[in-house]
Amino acid sequence: MEFKTVIEPFRIHSVEPLKLTTHSQRKTIIEKAGYNVFNLRSEDVMIDLLTDSGTGAMSKSQWAALQNGDESYAGSPSWQRFDSAVKNLFPFNNVIPTHQGRAAEKILFSILGGPGKVVPSNTHFDTTRANIEFTGAKAVDLVIEQGRNPQSLHPFKGNMDVEKLHDLIEEIGSEHIPIVMMTVTNNSGGGQPVSMENIRETSQLCHRFGIPFFLDGCRFAENSWFIQERESGYSQVPISDIVKEMASLADGMTMSAKKDPLGNIGGWLAMNDDTLAKEARRLLILTEGFPTYGGLAGRDLEAIAVGLTEAISQDYLDYRIASTRYLGHALHDADIPVVLPIGGHAVYIDARSWLGHLSPLQYPGQSLCVALYVEGGIRSCEIGTVMFGLQPDGKEVPAAMDLVRLAIPRRTYTQSHIDYVVEVCLKLKDIITSLPGYTITSEPEPLRHFSARFAPLV
Ligand code: F0G
Repeated sequence: MEFKTVIEPFRIHSVEPLKLTTHSQRKTIIEKAGYNVFNLRSEDVMIDLLTDSGTGAMSKSQWAALQNGDESYAGSPSWQRFDSAVKNLFPFNNVIPTHQGRAAEKILFSILGGPGKVVPSNTHFDTTRANIEFTGAKAVDLVIEQGRNPQSLHPFKGNMDVEKLHDLIEEIGSEHIPIVMMTVTNNSGGGQPVSMENIRETSQLCHRFGIPFFLDGCRFAENSWFIQERESGYSQVPISDIVKEMASLADGMTMSAKKDPLGNIGGWLAMNDDTLAKEARRLLILTEGFPTYGGLAGRDLEAIAVGLTEAISQDYLDYRIASTRYLGHALHDADIPVVLPIGGHAVYIDARSWLGHLSPLQYPGQSLCVALYVEGGIRSCEIGTVMFGLQPDGKEVPAAMDLVRLAIPRRTYTQSHIDYVVEVCLKLKDIITSLPGYTITSEPEPLRHFSARFAPLV
């Protein structure tokens, strides 16, 4: 490339004003919110890096496509366009639309889960884990060892530990493993990619034992970009072909269209097995809707169909990964510990290391989230002991890592917004050792991180 600056491959078409707040206003606001950023009103947030889920900017083609939305209860042309767009990349026999990813998970695990069952993954996302455990089944994370080490530079830190998976199958028997999942990219493990080779090996192992192998494909396009960048033999392969190859190795998938498909809402469950699909559609009708809209308006189906074509654009993905790296490398260069290599959709700060004066049960990630908000009005997300520490039996143990995720909404913030985030983090460096630990004053179960309330330990 001739120039080092990777420009946004779009210009701004419509703007959303941001409300600017002061340090002292934010101190009061976060206290009222029980020191939980999920309790904040979004108007009180200046840079919202809570999630990349449903928070991206749609393109003018997507907005235009909304007008094609046909809201017929059954058999609408919007459904046909959605179904074709999904099958064009993921040619599974059955595509079942859902209102978001967790609805697909709920349906899938209501059928396949249950007491005595074990569902392995590289790393389950929190809703996936919760939906599995809700049925009485056990969710197991089998990411490779390097995936648990924030400093390891392994190019595919999201990979499944195939040997461990093999041992687990041998140990408990394939009849207790109704399905194996693979999250691409591995969100809870730092947004790290999974190699095609690893997807293939995992698929082959599952098939040897007759176990269905499903992708949690939320960030399929970013994962494909990393395969193109890092895996031998793929540098000249178009993203769409890499996506199709990943899909060809799986028996089905769950998807949140709020991520790489560039929707504000939506998802799907897809599979080749017609009997499983029949059962899934039966449950879909109970809670989501008729199989040709499944909890979505026709206009949402249209926006996702167009989003899927934009998500695999090389220019878009080059920009997307470059802009995430821009933030990650700036923090790394300032000696702020971040998960390396920088992932696709987010930068993960290693709060356990940066706030080394706090023990994991004092929630260093939560403390950093509060500080990012108070200092700079930045909303981030704890992915650590608050999110994963509470065990099904009520015990509390430290999570594998205490990370704080700065998730980058797609096509939403400019480089100066990100420069501001870097500046706030640099300021935090000066006060980091004085940040307090936190205790939980009230918490629901499961998924306590969404609504728990905290108090600083003083
Ligand atoms: N799987 C993964 C890997 C996810 O990241 C998410 C959502 C889901 C499933 C569930 O999808 O939200 O549409 O129900 N992740 C969001 C996040 C919430 O912030 O990472 P959903």
